[in-house]
Amino acid sequence: MDVYEAVATRRAVRAFDGTPVPHEVLARVLRAASRAPSGGNLQPWHVYVVTGEPLAQLKKRTAERVAAGDPGDEREYTMYPPDLPSPYRERRSAAAAQRYRGIARDDAAARQAAVARNWDCFGAPAALFCYLDRTMGAAQWADAGMYLQTVMLLLRAEGLDSCPQMAWSVYRTTVAEVVSPPERLILFCGMSIGYADPAASQERIERAPMAETVTFLG
Ligand SMILES: Cc1cc2nc3c(=O)[nH]c(=O)nc-3n(C[C@H](O)[C@H](O)[C@H](O)COP(=O)(O)O)c2cc1C
Repeated sequence: MDVYEAVATRRAVRAFDGTPVPHEVLARVLRAASRAPSGGNLQPWHVYVVTGEPLAQLKKRTAERVAAGDPGDEREYTMYPPDLPSPYRERRSAAAAQRYRGIARDDAAARQAAVARNWDCFGAPAALFCYLDRTMGAAQWADAGMYLQTVMLLLRAEGLDSCPQMAWSVYRTTVAEVVSPPERLILFCGMSIGYADPAASQERIERAPMAETVTFLG
């Protein structure tokens, strides 16, 4: 698989078939992903890979919180700026409309159930949790994004799929109970990893026309 194909076939998969992912495959991907660039070569990320019993525990404990109507932990960062300006607001609602196609707009329970699938990792047998040192700034968070995209593309090369998930920051203390990060780390996001369920239909989320996001000069 070349890089174009890896980029084109990566999508946020929200239905996995549960087939376990061999440890050596995850280790190969994460070893290769360490070549991701970072300003000053800080490599400011720290990743916890969770499978098996610890992942089952995490899913169970989080499901209990969700079922109890627990709104989640105090947020440690803002997922989206308040009052998203145009064109970002429209892009976000277009993506949500595509994602929740088939669920009526006023069916809050069905929407909530779809969101709650985040905390079951959409059935994935593996997850990673990406933390950064609290002292890091915007540039290092961008580094973490490059690292995570590198991981996701390498997963494609292994026939695997993924879904990056800021949703895990909502129940970050439960993640922390399982992975025991040092206090100096802050959870950026989780990522579900596994083999896509071939029976599940998957929306291909549209992108803005290139002219909206790229300007060529010269
Ligand atoms: C940092 C980050 C966090 C995300 N968090 C979530 C999440 O919590 N739950 C989810 O279902 N998708 C999440 N996504 C996936 C995006 O919704 C998805 O990438 C976007 O809608 C484009 O769709 P595509 O990746 O399938 O092309 C996240 C993506 C990124 C990059």
